[in-house]
Amino acid sequence: MAIEWRDLTPEIASQVSGSAEELLVPEAAARLRRLLVARGVLIFRELGLSDEQQVRLAGLMGNVRAEGERGIFKITLDTDLNAKAEYLRGSFLWHMDGTHDDVPVFASLLTGRTLSHEGGQTLFANSYAAYEALSPEMKARLEGLRVTHSFETSMIRAGVEPSEANVAYWRSIPDKTHSLVWGHASGRKSLVIGCHASHVVGMDRAESDALLAELLDWVTQPRFTYRHEWTPGDLLIWDNTGVLHRAEPYPFDSGREMHRTTLLGEEAFA
Ligand code: SIN
Repeated sequence: MAIEWRDLTPEIASQVSGSAEELLVPEAAARLRRLLVARGVLIFRELGLSDEQQVRLAGLMGNVRAEGERGIFKITLDTDLNAKAEYLRGSFLWHMDGTHDDVPVFASLLTGRTLSHEGGQTLFANSYAAYEALSPEMKARLEGLRVTHSFETSMIRAGVEPSEANVAYWRSIPDKTHSLVWGHASGRKSLVIGCHASHVVGMDRAESDALLAELLDWVTQPRFTYRHEWTPGDLLIWDNTGVLHRAEPYPFDSGREMHRTTLLGEEAFA
């Protein structure tokens, strides 16, 4: 069955139509995967997948990471349900997932279960498109640069309390250094940046801060971004290899709960 979609902006995000039954077959999932790689983010309005269906769709598109309850990780700031809820403040800043790994996750599927009455919309930025649109001079300047990513840096920037216990935990996650420009096997290139990008290796600190800030501003300008206003039951899928994301801040007691399934990475940073 042919899936139908329409592009929501020229550079990022397509909205896909179809029912769960139509999408949950191998041919449709393979087409969704190709569309995801081409468009960065897929939107399914009020699809209303069950947890089991979400994990099944994920399994048809890639390799599901074992996390949460049978592949469903609940994103919530409710400290009764999530002991590390305060670290989710980091999700309010632009980030990629998995920069502390050698092979970052490929993609994530997120269903909105309970929404916040305030904030909590999710934004995405396409760093493939943003890299492509850089000037030849800037591309030449970035060639060969390497950036160190640090969990502690992201937590400090997010304003999480640097208590002794928190800092000890943050520092238990080793920093990682990756090429700033990720040259993919496909031939495409994306930028590896976000709130976790601490500094450009070997560069003067002020120059490094200015360059990383300039690139983040470039990638997250309206031209390369999509902001999703949630309706319960919406499903979003994004390609983490070249899409940054963030949630707009929402209150800790909002009750917001999103169900995420993650697809394991398939390509190392390079
Ligand atoms: C995230 O994966 O960083 C959170 C996205 C969201 O809660 O909207």
